[in-house]
Amino acid sequence: MPSSRGSETLRYSASAARPAALACLLAAALAQAQTDELVAPYVPTVEEDVELMLEVGGVGPDDYVIDLGSGDGRIVIAAARRGALAHGVELDPELVELARANARESGAADRVAFVHGDIFDADIGRATVVTLYLFPEANLMLRPKLLAELRAGTRVVSNSFHMGEWKPDVHDMSARSSGGILLWIVPPRIEGEWLLEIDGGERLSLAVRQQFQEIELEIAGSGSVVARDTATLKANRLRFGAELNDARHVFDGQVEDDAMYGYVQIERQGGRTVVGWRATRR
Ligand SMILES: C[S@@+](CC[C@H](N)C(=O)[O-])C[C@H]1O[C@@H](n2cnc3c(N)ncnc32)[C@H](O)[C@@H]1O
Repeated sequence: MPSSRGSETLRYSASAARPAALACLLAAALAQAQTDELVAPYVPTVEEDVELMLEVGGVGPDDYVIDLGSGDGRIVIAAARRGALAHGVELDPELVELARANARESGAADRVAFVHGDIFDADIGRATVVTLYLFPEANLMLRPKLLAELRAGTRVVSNSFHMGEWKPDVHDMSARSSGGILLWIVPPRIEGEWLLEIDGGERLSLAVRQQFQEIELEIAGSGSVVARDTATLKANRLRFGAELNDARHVFDGQVEDDAMYGYVQIERQGGRTVVGWRATRR
């Protein structure tokens, strides 16, 4: 698989390992000879924050967790203790061996695996949760891969570092790490033109503009523009409001591949009705 890194990749040496604080490593890491593919040095997440990351990510027995840059395996092993299946991807072969030994000691070895490889080449499509403790530059380099290869609804949890213009859905600052724990939910792609049909007759054109989980909707033909703050997309759940034919409409529904459907509450003077709606791509 081709690497998704840009030409301005920052690379750090694996030998810059094990000081206490990631931030203090930046200058030293940059000064290292740039001879390998590491995009962040090895600094383990403190145990309290491992649990907080899994808590924020809602990790449970139904999950498949992938830690990209898995170090000594602690996040993967902690996820397995919550009943999840999990694997780590790590470029440093000594850390892969250490993680495998830690897994054997923990008794969780049958629920985990550690792959020696590059995070940018990793097969991540089966994940329901991806965890990261890299650098901001590395998160940004990974972002296109995460958005292209993860299913809508997959949770991405990062220790400390952001994802540029893709704003987190949750930023928990109760972590020991000063940057906090950040969570993103991969949105479905709904940008484009849709045919919106409301049970009982209305057929309208729905135009969607999208940047990550932020959406702006416009219903053509009716003269109604849906206000930005009434449209939300969280995982596969879509909600928006509109004034149509002098009645307030509140749509609530879900996105499934190239279809969206749900219920709409219609409020007119003298009453409220609830009917179904669906939208298909034009
Ligand atoms: C800050 S440590 C985090 C370790 C672990 N995830 C944790 O939170 O305890 C980052 C890890 O990413 C690994 N890493 C850096 N670049 C990588 C790459 N391109 N492919 C795979 N692993 C990489 C490093 O070797 C290091 O173990």
